[in-house]
Amino acid sequence: FQPKLLAGRKVVMTAGPTFEAIDPVRGITNTSSGKMGYALAQACRRAGAEVVLVSGPTGLPAPLGVERVDVCSALQMRDAVVAALPGADVFIGVAAVADYRPLSAAEHKVKKSSAELTLTPNPDILAEVAARPDAPFCVGFAAESRELDAYAEGKRRAKRLPMLVGNLVQDGLGSDDNQVILYDDAGRHPQPRAPKTVVAQKIVEHLAGLLAMRATR
Ligand code: C5P
Repeated sequence: FQPKLLAGRKVVMTAGPTFEAIDPVRGITNTSSGKMGYALAQACRRAGAEVVLVSGPTGLPAPLGVERVDVCSALQMRDAVVAALPGADVFIGVAAVADYRPLSAAEHKVKKSSAELTLTPNPDILAEVAARPDAPFCVGFAAESRELDAYAEGKRRAKRLPMLVGNLVQDGLGSDDNQVILYDDAGRHPQPRAPKTVVAQKIVEHLAGLLAMRATR
Protein backbone atom coordinates (compact mmCIF):
# COMPACT_ATOMS: atom_id res chain seq x y z
CA PHE A 1 0.00 0.00 0.00
CA GLN A 2 1.35 3.39 -1.00
CA PRO A 3 0.12 6.41 0.96
CA LYS A 4 -1.40 9.15 -1.23
CA LEU A 5 1.20 11.80 -0.50
CA LEU A 6 -0.50 14.58 -2.47
CA ALA A 7 -4.15 13.75 -1.84
CA GLY A 8 -6.32 16.87 -1.97
CA ARG A 9 -3.55 18.98 -3.55
CA LYS A 10 -3.75 20.77 -6.88
CA VAL A 11 -0.50 20.78 -8.87
CA VAL A 12 0.06 23.01 -11.90
CA MET A 13 3.14 22.25 -13.96
CA THR A 14 4.92 23.08 -17.21
CA ALA A 15 6.84 20.60 -19.34
CA GLY A 16 8.51 20.21 -22.71
CA PRO A 17 10.12 22.93 -24.81
CA THR A 18 8.51 26.10 -26.07
CA PHE A 19 8.51 26.95 -29.78
CA GLU A 20 8.81 30.58 -30.82
CA ALA A 21 7.72 31.11 -34.40
CA ILE A 22 9.96 33.07 -36.79
CA ASP A 23 7.63 32.53 -39.74
CA PRO A 24 5.06 29.83 -40.72
CA VAL A 25 7.76 27.17 -41.14
CA ARG A 26 10.61 28.17 -38.82
CA GLY A 27 11.11 28.80 -35.15
CA ILE A 28 13.38 28.89 -32.11
CA THR A 29 13.17 26.10 -29.59
CA ASN A 30 15.06 24.29 -26.84
CA THR A 31 15.99 20.64 -26.64
CA SER A 32 13.56 18.94 -24.26
CA SER A 33 11.89 15.58 -24.69
CA GLY A 34 9.29 16.36 -22.02
CA LYS A 35 9.93 12.94 -20.46
CA MET A 36 10.93 14.21 -17.00
CA GLY A 37 7.95 16.58 -16.78
CA TYR A 38 5.48 13.95 -17.98
CA ALA A 39 6.90 11.37 -15.55
CA LEU A 40 6.53 13.92 -12.75
CA ALA A 41 2.94 14.75 -13.77
CA GLN A 42 2.13 11.05 -13.63
CA ALA A 43 3.83 10.64 -10.23
CA CYS A 44 1.87 13.62 -8.82
CA ARG A 45 -1.37 12.14 -10.16
CA ARG A 46 -0.56 8.72 -8.70
CA ALA A 47 0.12 10.46 -5.39
CA GLY A 48 -3.47 11.68 -5.44
CA ALA A 49 -3.06 15.24 -6.76
CA GLU A 50 -5.25 17.02 -9.28
CA VAL A 51 -2.72 17.81 -12.03
CA VAL A 52 -2.82 20.44 -14.78
CA LEU A 53 0.09 19.93 -17.18
CA VAL A 54 0.80 22.90 -19.42
CA SER A 55 2.90 21.38 -22.17
CA GLY A 56 4.92 22.65 -25.08
CA PRO A 57 5.17 20.46 -28.20
CA THR A 58 6.43 16.98 -27.21
CA GLY A 59 4.53 14.20 -29.01
CA LEU A 60 4.14 12.37 -25.69
CA PRO A 61 0.72 11.04 -24.62
CA ALA A 62 -0.89 12.76 -21.62
CA PRO A 63 -0.55 10.63 -18.47
CA LEU A 64 -3.83 9.04 -17.38
CA GLY A 65 -5.97 11.35 -15.27
CA VAL A 66 -3.82 14.42 -15.95
CA GLU A 67 -5.40 17.50 -17.55
CA ARG A 68 -3.07 18.59 -20.34
CA VAL A 69 -3.17 22.06 -21.84
CA ASP A 70 -1.21 22.23 -25.11
CA VAL A 71 0.71 25.38 -25.88
CA CYS A 72 3.44 26.42 -28.27
CA SER A 73 5.14 29.65 -27.22
CA ALA A 74 6.32 30.94 -23.83
CA LEU A 75 3.64 33.65 -23.84
CA GLN A 76 0.95 31.03 -24.42
CA MET A 77 2.53 28.91 -21.67
CA ARG A 78 2.42 31.81 -19.22
CA ASP A 79 -1.24 32.55 -20.05
CA ALA A 80 -2.22 28.90 -19.60
CA VAL A 81 -0.35 28.71 -16.27
CA VAL A 82 -2.00 31.88 -14.95
CA ALA A 83 -5.42 30.53 -16.00
CA ALA A 84 -4.76 27.24 -14.17
CA LEU A 85 -3.31 28.76 -10.98
CA PRO A 86 -6.47 29.49 -8.94
CA GLY A 87 -6.65 26.89 -6.16
CA ALA A 88 -3.15 25.52 -6.88
CA ASP A 89 -1.08 24.31 -3.90
CA VAL A 90 2.04 23.59 -5.96
CA PHE A 91 3.59 24.94 -9.16
CA ILE A 92 6.39 22.97 -10.81
CA GLY A 93 8.29 24.50 -13.73
CA VAL A 94 9.91 21.71 -15.70
CA ALA A 95 9.62 23.29 -19.15
CA ALA A 96 12.69 24.35 -21.09
CA VAL A 97 11.31 27.78 -21.93
CA ALA A 98 13.05 29.60 -24.78
CA ASP A 99 14.81 32.63 -23.30
CA TYR A 100 14.02 34.80 -26.33
CA ARG A 101 11.38 35.04 -29.04
CA PRO A 102 11.37 36.91 -32.36
CA LEU A 103 9.97 40.38 -31.79
CA SER A 104 7.32 39.61 -34.38
CA ALA A 105 6.57 36.45 -36.34
CA ALA A 106 6.44 36.95 -40.10
CA GLU A 107 3.09 36.16 -41.69
CA HIS A 108 4.80 34.64 -44.75
CA LYS A 109 7.89 32.51 -45.16
CA VAL A 110 10.99 34.64 -44.79
CA LYS A 111 13.31 34.64 -47.81
CA LYS A 112 16.93 33.57 -47.41
CA SER A 113 18.12 37.04 -48.35
CA SER A 114 16.79 38.52 -45.07
CA ALA A 115 19.12 37.21 -42.39
CA GLU A 116 18.21 39.68 -39.63
CA LEU A 117 16.26 38.43 -36.65
CA THR A 118 15.32 40.76 -33.78
CA LEU A 119 14.79 38.93 -30.49
CA THR A 120 13.07 40.00 -27.30
CA PRO A 121 13.26 38.25 -23.88
CA ASN A 122 10.48 35.93 -22.77
CA PRO A 123 8.97 36.26 -19.29
CA ASP A 124 10.35 33.95 -16.60
CA ILE A 125 7.16 32.02 -15.86
CA LEU A 126 8.42 30.35 -12.71
CA ALA A 127 9.91 33.53 -11.22
CA GLU A 128 6.66 35.36 -11.92
CA VAL A 129 4.54 32.68 -10.24
CA ALA A 130 6.90 32.52 -7.24
CA ALA A 131 6.72 36.32 -6.84
CA ARG A 132 2.91 36.41 -6.65
CA PRO A 133 1.50 37.32 -3.22
CA ASP A 134 -0.68 34.19 -3.42
CA ALA A 135 2.18 32.01 -4.72
CA PRO A 136 1.76 28.26 -4.40
CA PHE A 137 4.72 26.13 -3.25
CA CYS A 138 7.09 26.55 -6.22
CA VAL A 139 9.53 23.94 -7.53
CA GLY A 140 12.09 24.72 -10.22
CA PHE A 141 14.36 22.66 -12.42
CA ALA A 142 17.86 23.51 -13.58
CA ALA A 143 19.64 21.57 -16.28
CA GLU A 144 23.28 22.62 -16.36
CA SER A 145 26.29 21.43 -18.31
CA ARG A 146 28.76 22.26 -15.49
CA GLU A 147 29.03 23.63 -11.95
CA LEU A 148 25.61 22.22 -11.08
CA ASP A 149 25.66 23.10 -7.36
CA ALA A 150 26.52 26.76 -7.88
CA TYR A 151 24.12 27.37 -10.76
CA ALA A 152 21.24 25.36 -9.31
CA GLU A 153 21.41 26.94 -5.86
CA GLY A 154 21.88 30.36 -7.49
CA LYS A 155 18.69 29.89 -9.51
CA ARG A 156 16.79 28.63 -6.49
CA ARG A 157 17.69 31.76 -4.55
CA ALA A 158 17.24 34.20 -7.45
CA LYS A 159 13.76 32.86 -8.20
CA ARG A 160 12.95 32.46 -4.47
CA LEU A 161 12.04 28.79 -4.68
CA PRO A 162 11.71 26.49 -1.65
CA MET A 163 12.81 23.54 -3.82
CA LEU A 164 14.77 23.01 -7.02
CA VAL A 165 15.72 19.87 -8.94
CA GLY A 166 19.13 20.06 -10.58
CA ASN A 167 20.71 17.77 -13.11
CA LEU A 168 23.63 17.78 -15.50
CA VAL A 169 22.31 17.80 -19.07
CA GLN A 170 24.64 14.97 -20.01
CA ASP A 171 22.92 12.86 -17.32
CA GLY A 172 19.36 13.27 -18.48
CA LEU A 173 18.73 14.94 -21.82
CA GLY A 174 16.41 12.85 -24.00
CA SER A 175 17.21 9.75 -21.96
CA ASP A 176 14.83 7.53 -19.99
CA ASP A 177 17.15 7.77 -16.96
CA ASN A 178 18.22 10.76 -14.95
CA GLN A 179 20.47 11.62 -12.02
CA VAL A 180 19.35 14.61 -9.97
CA ILE A 181 20.22 16.58 -6.86
CA LEU A 182 17.39 18.15 -4.87
CA TYR A 183 18.10 21.57 -3.35
CA ASP A 184 16.11 23.16 -0.55
CA ASP A 185 16.64 25.40 2.50
CA ALA A 186 18.24 22.46 4.33
CA GLY A 187 20.88 21.88 1.64
CA ARG A 188 21.55 19.44 -1.19
CA HIS A 189 20.12 15.95 -1.46
CA PRO A 190 21.79 13.84 -4.18
CA GLN A 191 19.66 11.01 -5.63
CA PRO A 192 20.87 7.81 -7.27
CA ARG A 193 20.74 7.49 -11.06
CA ALA A 194 17.41 5.88 -11.95
CA PRO A 195 14.64 5.76 -14.57
CA LYS A 196 12.80 9.10 -14.81
CA THR A 197 9.67 7.42 -13.38
CA VAL A 198 11.62 6.50 -10.21
CA VAL A 199 13.27 9.93 -10.02
CA ALA A 200 9.80 11.51 -10.34
CA GLN A 201 8.55 9.45 -7.40
CA LYS A 202 11.53 10.63 -5.29
CA ILE A 203 10.77 14.25 -6.19
CA VAL A 204 7.13 13.78 -5.14
CA GLU A 205 8.20 12.26 -1.81
CA HIS A 206 10.59 15.14 -1.11
CA LEU A 207 8.01 17.73 -2.16
CA ALA A 208 5.30 16.14 -0.01
CA GLY A 209 7.67 16.19 2.98
CA LEU A 210 8.39 19.91 2.54
CA LEU A 211 4.68 20.66 2.10
CA ALA A 212 3.86 18.79 5.30
CA MET A 213 6.61 20.66 7.18
CA ARG A 214 5.29 23.97 5.88
CA ALA A 215 1.78 23.09 7.08
CA THR A 216 2.99 22.44 10.64
CA ARG A 217 5.11 25.59 10.88
O1 C5P B 1 16.08 28.63 -17.83
P1 C5P B 1 16.46 28.44 -16.38
O2 C5P B 1 17.64 27.54 -16.18
O3 C5P B 1 16.52 29.72 -15.61
O4 C5P B 1 15.22 27.59 -15.79
C1 C5P B 1 15.14 27.33 -14.43
C2 C5P B 1 13.69 27.10 -14.07
O5 C5P B 1 12.89 28.23 -14.43
C3 C5P B 1 13.00 25.90 -14.70
O6 C5P B 1 12.16 25.36 -13.70
C4 C5P B 1 12.20 26.50 -15.84
O7 C5P B 1 11.04 25.75 -16.14
C5 C5P B 1 11.84 27.86 -15.30
N1 C5P B 1 11.72 28.90 -16.34
C6 C5P B 1 10.47 29.49 -16.62
N2 C5P B 1 10.38 30.49 -17.57
C7 C5P B 1 11.48 30.90 -18.23
C8 C5P B 1 12.74 30.31 -17.96
C9 C5P B 1 12.82 29.31 -17.02
O8 C5P B 1 9.47 29.11 -16.02
N3 C5P B 1 11.37 31.86 -19.15
